[in-house]
Amino acid sequence: MGRESIIGTPPPDDGGNNSGGTPPPPGDENDSALRPTRIADMVGQREVIAVLEIAIDAARKRDEPLGHILFDGPPGLGKTTFATCIPHEMGVPVQMASGPALKAPKDIIPYLTNLEDRSVLFVDEIHRMPKAVEEYLYTAMEDFRIDIVLGEGVSARTLNLQLKPFTLIGATTRAGMLSGPLRDRFQIREHLGFYTFGELTKIVEVNSGKLGVEIDRQAATEIARRSRGTPRVANNRLLWVRDYAMSKSDGKVDMDVVIKAMEMTGIDPLGLDRQDRRYLQTLIGVLQGGPAGIESIAHTMNVPSDTLEDEVEPFLLRMELIVRTSRGRCVTAKAYQHLSMKPPKNAHEGDQDLPLFPDGN
Ligand SMILES: Nc1ncnc2c1ncn2[C@@H]1O[C@H](COP(=O)(O)OP(=O)(O)O)[C@@H](O)[C@H]1O
Ligand SMILES: [Mg+2]
Repeated sequence: MGRESIIGTPPPDDGGNNSGGTPPPPGDENDSALRPTRIADMVGQREVIAVLEIAIDAARKRDEPLGHILFDGPPGLGKTTFATCIPHEMGVPVQMASGPALKAPKDIIPYLTNLEDRSVLFVDEIHRMPKAVEEYLYTAMEDFRIDIVLGEGVSARTLNLQLKPFTLIGATTRAGMLSGPLRDRFQIREHLGFYTFGELTKIVEVNSGKLGVEIDRQAATEIARRSRGTPRVANNRLLWVRDYAMSKSDGKVDMDVVIKAMEMTGIDPLGLDRQDRRYLQTLIGVLQGGPAGIESIAHTMNVPSDTLEDEVEPFLLRMELIVRTSRGRCVTAKAYQHLSMKPPKNAHEGDQDLPLFPDGN
């Protein structure tokens, strides 16, 4: 298909044709019900919000689009939420696209030609965009211009297309996988970190209110404690606890209900789920506690290494249950204790790269 044939056609229906609205990504239905729509309703991430508020204020005063923004961080920490709230604050429409769906430059052209003045284009998982698409974005981001090749062979000519000034918001779980030239074209780059128990407790309480669930402070804190520092996980735990309370008792959520509901689904007091514990058990039982490469762990567990790197390891690292050394991943004494296992006396004592047991036990 010649590239010219898609000029002026609307973006594909799979999540693209939604200027002004923000339908949930597939499988995210509950998320969208609980997702804040204004920055003022977002909990935590104070430093990120402070930067954004200044940028939004200045852009409004200059009557210009906001500079391009890149969010990175593990899943469920609020990247899509920010990408929903920012256009709302600016009072502009947003189009949602996803890196893996943009297979060739022609896939991104409809999004670019449909941009309205100062509107937002959100590209989720932007690190999974092929190089050719990425390069196509360079002039769009820098000069609000794209070059379209019309025809083929000797009769081919280039059409220079001016775009409306817009803001690209990119989200990635892997900032390290983004090329330098693309990363440098984002004026604002913000890393989203894990949330504190206090912040998660607030999210659980606010969302209990939205869902009409009666919950006491102690129970909300316990859900927060078992939510891996992640709002999406807190929401999912809350929804499960709500179901459990409705089915097993009168629907009121107290400490007893939370603990029973968590035990039933294998969520332990640190918030680790079965997959997290399997990771630790694999590293200990099969790979002698490490150091082990991510590929050997992934093969042994029969889980894609991306999943482990994106979803499992960040929290285990944060909890100091594992450490990463130049030779691979190692479990810490804390992990043995958590699994009620005795740490081996001479485990990897020769490894000088990083303290193996950072908690000093
Ligand atoms: N700062 C926040 N305050 C309140 N809820 C949040 C916040 N960040 C995320 N959430 C909740 O967590 C869910 C997942 O967040 P999302 O933005 O989809 O994560 P990501 O895009 O980083 O994977 C949202 O639907 C929302 O309900
Ligand atoms: Mg997202």
